[in-house]
Amino acid sequence: MQFKTIIEPFRIKVVEPIKMTTREDRVRFLREAGLNVFLLKSEDVLIDLLTDSGTTAMSAEQWSAMMRGDESYAGAPSYYRFHESIYKLTGFKEIIPTHQGRAAERILFQSVCKPGQVVISNMFFDTTRANAETSGLVTVDIPCKEYYSPMVPAPFKGNIDLEKLEELLRLRAHLGEIGLVLMTITNNSGGGQPVSMGNLRAAGDLCRRYKVNYVIDACRFAENAKFIKLREQGYAGKSSRDIAKEIFSLCDAISVSAKKDGMGNIGGFLAMHNQEWAQACRNNLILTEGFVTYGGLAGRDLEAIAVGINEAVDDDYLTYRLQCVNYVGQGLLAQGWSIVNPPGGHAIYLDAKAMLPHISVDKYPAQVLTSALYEFAGIRGVEIGSVMLGREMSDGHEQPHSQELVRLAIPRRVYTQAHMDYLLEATAEFKKTLPQLRGVRFTYKPKVLRHFTARFEWC
Ligand code: F0G
Repeated sequence: MQFKTIIEPFRIKVVEPIKMTTREDRVRFLREAGLNVFLLKSEDVLIDLLTDSGTTAMSAEQWSAMMRGDESYAGAPSYYRFHESIYKLTGFKEIIPTHQGRAAERILFQSVCKPGQVVISNMFFDTTRANAETSGLVTVDIPCKEYYSPMVPAPFKGNIDLEKLEELLRLRAHLGEIGLVLMTITNNSGGGQPVSMGNLRAAGDLCRRYKVNYVIDACRFAENAKFIKLREQGYAGKSSRDIAKEIFSLCDAISVSAKKDGMGNIGGFLAMHNQEWAQACRNNLILTEGFVTYGGLAGRDLEAIAVGINEAVDDDYLTYRLQCVNYVGQGLLAQGWSIVNPPGGHAIYLDAKAMLPHISVDKYPAQVLTSALYEFAGIRGVEIGSVMLGREMSDGHEQPHSQELVRLAIPRRVYTQAHMDYLLEATAEFKKTLPQLRGVRFTYKPKVLRHFTARFEWC
């Protein structure tokens, strides 16, 4: 007999207390943080959905493996276990550890592309875009059409627009103007939405035809693989692990933050076939990250990832993982929230423009919703709107982003269903207060990656 309830497929051995706070406390904490939840102390947060990155609860197997961590500067067995685990899963022989995903991206861009070239993506994540641009590259996002209708469900809203990709490649590839094509799976900035195998394959075919390098930003490869299993014809009978292997077989290289589906608290890596690229990347690695067999990580971190990356493709784990996010998403939809629909693999994205129609984009509705949700219920999400992705033009004018989203990212294996039920009870009450919310204005606006340290006041 199949029961309806999907349980957390683990027991809890170690716990961390959560400090209870009152609304008055939180109003004060947030004011002191300049209305920027990045500047809060995490102990002042009840349920922390700022990110699913590096916040994973590690398994007993991972902690045990960490005890074997060998901290030799060069040639540690921890590196070889890391290498074997990733090689068996991805098929790439050249594997380069980094301290986290953004170091991998920077090294890849600087080693494989030339300044002035264009790099194309279904959508760059913020640090990826910043690393490309500070490496002298021009970034172009071409998400599929479904991306522009956040509320309208579609199975693979993370896809790239293949027509636009072909057009760009046809016009510019022969001039040597394209550095690489980077597919982000799942598409984090685009709602944590998956990319279909069909789309991944077709983009790879185009890259091969036009002789352009094809790379996957595979931070959330396991969640993407599970969506393919659930939603794409022909994959229901395959394991998520085999689907992940098929994804990796399509591209020239992957750039990975192991803080997501690597199940690590820190770490990342590049993996590729091309030995010349690998050589160039390793030379760059040694300059800034460390020797080639540790790349900025402790041996114990390499061990944790070597175990974690296999746990991430376990189908029972992935069933629970996607259901947990879906449970919150369906609950919010039932309350009348506008969210990116269907729910993504690691997060729910609230549509602040739809929920706060009385707050104009120049008053940052997604920043407002993020701040107010923390004050109301102690839940910390993150703004993905014009604070994070808008730009200040040279004449001082703000160019807003097309969407105003608040991401509630669910850490892996950390919270139970009771936490999610608290969240849903709180959002039902919070929703009633939305018409009273006011906009915010910047009191401090840094030039780059401004969402991390900006400060605001209510207006
Ligand atoms: N690519 C994607 C798709 C990401 O989501 C992230 C990080 C990175 C690259 C960079 O990896 O943090 O290890 O340097 N995303 C985190 C988040 C920060 O909250 O979504 P990193």
